[in-house]
Amino acid sequence: MSIEVPNYISKIDPYQGGKPIKEVAREIGIAEEKIIKLASNENPMGISPLAKKVLNDASSEIHRYPDGNGFYLKEALSKNFLLETNQIIIGNGSNDILELAARTFVTKGDEVLYSKHAFAVYKIVTQAVGGKGMEAPSDNYSHDLAAFLSMISNKTKLIFIANPNNPTGTLISKKILKDFLNKVPDKVVVVLDEAYDEYLDDSLKSDAFEWLKEYKNLIISRSFSKAYGLAGLRIGYGAAASKLIEMMNRVRQPFNVNHFAQIAAIASLDDKNFIEKSRSINNLGMKQLIHTFEVLNLEYIPSYANFVSFKLEDEKTAMMYYQHLLNNGVIVRPIANYDLPQFLRVSIGLKHENNKFIEYLSNCNI
Ligand SMILES: Cc1ncc(COP(=O)(O)O)c(C=O)c1O
Repeated sequence: MSIEVPNYISKIDPYQGGKPIKEVAREIGIAEEKIIKLASNENPMGISPLAKKVLNDASSEIHRYPDGNGFYLKEALSKNFLLETNQIIIGNGSNDILELAARTFVTKGDEVLYSKHAFAVYKIVTQAVGGKGMEAPSDNYSHDLAAFLSMISNKTKLIFIANPNNPTGTLISKKILKDFLNKVPDKVVVVLDEAYDEYLDDSLKSDAFEWLKEYKNLIISRSFSKAYGLAGLRIGYGAAASKLIEMMNRVRQPFNVNHFAQIAAIASLDDKNFIEKSRSINNLGMKQLIHTFEVLNLEYIPSYANFVSFKLEDEKTAMMYYQHLLNNGVIVRPIANYDLPQFLRVSIGLKHENNKFIEYLSNCNI
């Protein structure tokens, strides 16, 4: 007897993450300490010292289930962002929030809109519930929201927008986003994925938490994996009208966020200094890399996040650069799966990490 898998599941292209350091050490035969990972948009500074301290003290709690409602974390988030706690849902990474949105609002045959070159998980979570993914064309690597509006049909249930977007790093202005939300029918849920918001300059930072008063169909998704440095703990959250949150909580697994993640997130929210420092190191690193691309005459997509994608002659050249960097212990990310086969994406690292990337990028003789 063979087991039948729904067609829409077997058609899913699995998510391709950045290569882990241990895997590269095994495959290439380089010591782990010599490897630099600039492939998953992690914070090269690590985590806040405040988070480190609470984590060190927390191992006595492991035999207990975590707080399934995330009471204290929601309380901390609500204070920080002036939200009601019933407007917040916590997730096992913000990936969980994206998935919960699809599982709650989409059923077989419904249409879900996202942009070409947008974060790969939107397509995966749509396919996983039998939804029909509709890819809007991009406008100079960014979201073309006019194209989104023209594609909305009576089958459209959900829209995913990443701002800034990964892997292009492009940003949609607040005005354009708001105009868009004004035109989206109330019955269509819009997920605004702001995983990289902490890296934005103050004037560009999202106002979307305030918009929740106006838009009952808006879900904001945020991550602790990027500027907060908690990628390994898996924690993110969503904010929306309490009615939407209540529905999403019905499909959320009871203990989706572990205790360590919750207490580290609470402590991290208190450490504004760490976020400030992370942002300024990121800005410096971004300048360093952009200067290099300009010197090497390599086209790049101007980015508002903690990574930048740069273009090589063709896919073969991109893969040769990727392999050359990998062989020398620098892990970056090919993004052919985002329909950008000529590009590689590099996360901004610390100065010495960027230097090593620059050294091997510059000495690659194709
Ligand atoms: C745009 C975007 N959204 C969401 C995520 C998911 O991040 P996490 O699940 O670690 O919060 C990522 C991770 O790369 C991302 O780039």
